[in-house]
Amino acid sequence: MGFCLPGYKTLRRGKYVLLLFVSLSVLAWIATFSGEIVKSAQIFSASPQTLVQADSLRDQLNTETAAPNQIETPTPKAECPKESPLLQGAVKLSFESSLTLKDVESKNKGVTDGEYEPSDCTASQSVAVLIPHRSRERHLLYLLNHLHPFLQRQQLHYAIYVIQQAGDATFNRAKLLNVGYLEALKDYSWECFVFHDVDLVPENDHNLYVCDNQPKHLVVGRNATGYKLRYKGYFGGVTAMTKDQFLQVNGFSNTYWGWGGEDDDLRIRVELQKMKIVRPPADVARYTMVFHKRDSGNEINKDRMRLLGQTPLVWKKDGLNSCTYKTMLLERQPLYVNVTVDIGKP
Ligand SMILES: *[C@@H]1O[C@H](CO)[C@@H](O)[C@H](O)[C@H]1NC(C)=O
Repeated sequence: MGFCLPGYKTLRRGKYVLLLFVSLSVLAWIATFSGEIVKSAQIFSASPQTLVQADSLRDQLNTETAAPNQIETPTPKAECPKESPLLQGAVKLSFESSLTLKDVESKNKGVTDGEYEPSDCTASQSVAVLIPHRSRERHLLYLLNHLHPFLQRQQLHYAIYVIQQAGDATFNRAKLLNVGYLEALKDYSWECFVFHDVDLVPENDHNLYVCDNQPKHLVVGRNATGYKLRYKGYFGGVTAMTKDQFLQVNGFSNTYWGWGGEDDDLRIRVELQKMKIVRPPADVARYTMVFHKRDSGNEINKDRMRLLGQTPLVWKKDGLNSCTYKTMLLERQPLYVNVTVDIGKP
């Protein structure tokens, strides 16, 4: 007979083997499961703080293995406090001629592809900072050097976009900002946009780069004008509008080539929508204007007064909805997204 029933002893040994096998599988299952949680926490953010959180999570799991069904998924990050504890107020700005892009990169390791998000709390707003630019590398470097730590101290989720005008036709700041808005929204649904001149550096981090329920003008004063508003109704330099406010006014006009007028045009658009420009207190909304001479290719726009007279008639068809351009290069650098764009000529 080829078939043989196991004896009583063999049966008992078999039971032990089975028991051993079952307990080993349970152990293996627990090990992979807690490993999985730690891994997902790491993907969420690789900052040391989150790793600490992940460790404590694993400890928690190990004490809870008696009832594995009650393991909960990690709770989402709490909202960042109403006022960031990291704010420093007025700071002395420095503009070292020896500063390099590498220096700024190594000081801002938390920034990837120009984007940053606090690791330990959820930011109140997601903000895209748009900087129109052409051959002002030194100014851009100084601005990045100050702006990144400034925005991080404000605990914002933000990204910086530098929109460079290709070619050497007359500069068009407003159209570049329209392009920046349209391009940034392809990356993420930013709720707030800050339109930022490259030569203005904020001096006080209580000047919050967030949007309000009205369009916000962030530059009350600059060192070049004795920290006084340039003129009543001035809405240039650095402004903040929500995605919807900007859409409602159809963005900037595309027709202002050369220096001046486009910011007044935006003010008219805002006023036509019965919106009211708000400003932070003067002692906070202070900027240092880094010295430069007028750029060639950005001469004063002599046509600006005539154009401003037409704004109420043309704003609906001149703006975001008529902004045509050709993206020449979209490059994600460590500290900003570079969008180089052909916007045509006057
Ligand atoms: C403002 O400060 C910057 C940086 O220190 C300096 O280059 C510029 O000349 C100052 N402007 C005035 C008018 O003081």
